[in-house]
Amino acid sequence: MPQEVRGVIAKAKGEPVTVETIVIPDPGPGEAVVKIQACGVCHTDLHYREGGINDEFPFLLGHEAAGIVEAVGDGVTEVAPGDYVILNWRAVCGQCRSCQKGKPQYCFATHNATQKMTLTDGTELSPALGIGAFCEKTLVAAGQCTKVDPAAKPEVAGLLGCGVMAGLGAAMNTGEVGRGDTVAVFGCGGVGNAALEGARLAGAKTIIAVDIDDQKLEWAKDFGATHTVNSANEDPVEKIRELTDGNGVDVAIEAIGLPQTYEQAFYARDLAGTVVLVGVPNPEMKIELPYIELFGRGGALKSSWYGDCLPSRDFPMLIDLYLQGRLNLDGFVTETIDLDAVEEAFHKMEGGGVLRSVVVIDD
Ligand SMILES: NC(=O)c1ccc[n+]([C@@H]2O[C@H](COP(=O)([O-])OP(=O)(O)OC[C@H]3O[C@@H](n4cnc5c(N)ncnc54)[C@H](O)[C@@H]3O)[C@@H](O)[C@H]2O)c1
Ligand SMILES: [Zn+2]
Ligand SMILES: [Zn+2]
Repeated sequence: MPQEVRGVIAKAKGEPVTVETIVIPDPGPGEAVVKIQACGVCHTDLHYREGGINDEFPFLLGHEAAGIVEAVGDGVTEVAPGDYVILNWRAVCGQCRSCQKGKPQYCFATHNATQKMTLTDGTELSPALGIGAFCEKTLVAAGQCTKVDPAAKPEVAGLLGCGVMAGLGAAMNTGEVGRGDTVAVFGCGGVGNAALEGARLAGAKTIIAVDIDDQKLEWAKDFGATHTVNSANEDPVEKIRELTDGNGVDVAIEAIGLPQTYEQAFYARDLAGTVVLVGVPNPEMKIELPYIELFGRGGALKSSWYGDCLPSRDFPMLIDLYLQGRLNLDGFVTETIDLDAVEEAFHKMEGGGVLRSVVVIDD
């Protein structure tokens, strides 16, 4: 029997979000219904609301979530009712040309549920990133559920479902930060701070945080930054060279999505170093660099999709590190809120002052 639950909807471009009654179908073949316990508020939810992703309104927002599998459809073997899971937005297919080449982290045909969740009048909803978890329950493809140790609280576990994983993976997977490396991260929001934390976990010796907000730079120190640079007051490229014997860093990570900060990352890098773009640009942005510099500086310019993570490999491992006290996830949770407070959380996000507001849904 389809169920009726409460969820947060963006009805039209720029309009404040509202809490509505959502109809969740029973899971079909390959699908699962998950009871959501917590879901972080990510910048991408705001992008959806602003019409920056596509025009497929109304959206059921929320995509950084953890919860309990309630029911599964036919043929589902990877999870079962009662499992504690983190939801992911890149459930690999196993069959596309990237999966077949042994690179499932780049899967070109990731899975979502095939049935639609709706409003009570039958209007079909577009779930954010194929998840839609600002909702008491949601319908996903079973492969979007990754089982982890239930000892980790949902408000921190859910964060691995998007921004924190993207940042950790930008450093550890895409940037391949190694022991003794020097690293700079541009932008110290949820994603950038996770990149700092990833660099620390990987054994980097010098970790430089760059932002224009002193509060963010203060927080960055809790995530492994050994040095901070306020780029509103000083030239970050010069400062980074100064902190690295005049050379620049081995890995420079852009976690904002602006051409000017990408350029800073490009020039703050040592010869043969790596630039990682994890911030998401908008479609109008352009970047211009002297062609000879692309050649002369060597190294690699990489982009990081979801931290190039493999949820089945990375989520349980990172949760174990968290439970051992080796990964700071608690520091990302600035506040926990109700479903009704998502609009307010968007305003706080725009004003700075929060790393993550996390919606917690009680039984
Ligand atoms: N690649 C992925 O898979 C993936 C996943 C999630 C999010 N993202 C993207 O990562 C980016 C960061 O997300 P977030 O949640 O951390 O955002 P956020 O808004 O919380 O953080 C951005 C930070 O950049 C700083 N900043 C802004 N302009 C700056 C400038 N000119 N110079 C230096 N610092 C500046 C801000 O002060 C803020 O601390 C976004 O573009 C988001 O869409 C990418
Ligand atoms: Zn694939
Ligand atoms: Zn997100």
